[in-house]
Amino acid sequence: MMKLIAIVCADEKNGIGKNNDLLFSLPTDMKFFRQTTKGHTVIMGERTLASLPGGKPLKNRDNIVLSPSLKGEGFTVVSDLDALFALLNAREGDAYVMGGAMTYASLLPYTSEVLLTRVQADGEAEVFFPALDDFILESESAPVTENGYTFTFCKYVRK
Ligand SMILES: NC(=O)c1ccc[n+]([C@@H]2O[C@H](COP(=O)([O-])OP(=O)(O)OC[C@H]3O[C@@H](n4cnc5c(N)ncnc54)[C@H](OP(=O)(O)O)[C@@H]3O)[C@@H](O)[C@H]2O)c1
Repeated sequence: MMKLIAIVCADEKNGIGKNNDLLFSLPTDMKFFRQTTKGHTVIMGERTLASLPGGKPLKNRDNIVLSPSLKGEGFTVVSDLDALFALLNAREGDAYVMGGAMTYASLLPYTSEVLLTRVQADGEAEVFFPALDDFILESESAPVTENGYTFTFCKYVRK
């Protein structure tokens, strides 16, 4: 069974997106995302796939997309959580849950760790990451300031 790790960038209110886009443009966070997920499985919802450049899956990663109906190349579609877990059960290693809001909410009960980039700002989000009540903050990086925003890399683990 693969280990599920959520990876997300959230503002101080747990906001993660608006207009089917991210709230902030933070190159250092993007680099962290790329380096962390490279060579691994990533799991995303249909709308997050649509929000990627060209609506295309991510290179150098095994892309799994949750969608009732989507078809496409370069990724595996699963239509519900049963189909997803059938896939994950047959594999080992880390699978990164990369959003969006619906996908995080569906999978958080099965997630062992959350890698959350916390931005000290209100991005006036329309969609949010779920409450982290079942998790504790294990570590937090020194603050980074970029494009006028200050953020830290936080690791939450299940209580
Ligand atoms: N800040 C970040 O780190 C971050 C990361 C990723 C995305 N985002 C943002 O999040 C927003 C998108 O989030 P979203 O909630 O609208 O979309 P989403 O989770 O990316 O995609 C929703 C789609 O996935 C399908 N889906 C989700 N869970 C499912 C399940 N358990 N079973 C079957 N299908 C499932 C839904 O199917 P149905 O059609 O059946 O409902 C729906 O079509 C955007 O603003 C994006 O930029 C932010």
